[in-house]
Amino acid sequence: MNREQMIGKVKAEMPERRWLHTQGVMETAVLLAHRFGDDPVRVELAAILHDVAKYWPTERMADMIREQGLPAELLLYDKELWHAPVGAWVAEHEYGVKDSEVLDAIRYHTSGRRGMTKLEKIVCLADYMEPGRDFPGVDKIRELSERNLDEALVAGFNSTIMFLVEKGKRIFPLTLEARNSLLE
Ligand SMILES: [Fe+2]
Ligand SMILES: [Fe+2]
Repeated sequence: MNREQMIGKVKAEMPERRWLHTQGVMETAVLLAHRFGDDPVRVELAAILHDVAKYWPTERMADMIREQGLPAELLLYDKELWHAPVGAWVAEHEYGVKDSEVLDAIRYHTSGRRGMTKLEKIVCLADYMEPGRDFPGVDKIRELSERNLDEALVAGFNSTIMFLVEKGKRIFPLTLEARNSLLE
């Protein structure tokens, strides 16, 4: 599947506003790849597909997590997390993506994890700060992203963690590990 075919198929999987978000992530991720020295083609591929499973029904995602042996502990946490590992599965099996680092960038774009690759960091950060995003702290993240990838990503995880604390929700351990690992 070439780039244009992939874009057409992804676009059909989501409402217009999520496609606009995806385009924002693609553009931001490519910009960050140039800024911090990573391959813009692989970064863009991960960005195109990162939210491919976002609009799957919850039950379909849960079934796939169980059937495909994806980490079952996900089911104990916010379902917002589920589309990332499900999306990586879809990218591999329905879009023919073979590059395991691209698949990992999709898999960990919401949670992060300890020892993230530069590709993972860029996709995760682009998802936080694409031009359509508007939440408390996003300007700080954008400002930090001008010079320091890790500091900008820590600020992103801070915003997620503080949001979850305020809402009284549980924090997925990988996000804490991702933040700790960036601060080490
Ligand atoms: Fe996402
Ligand atoms: Fe996203």
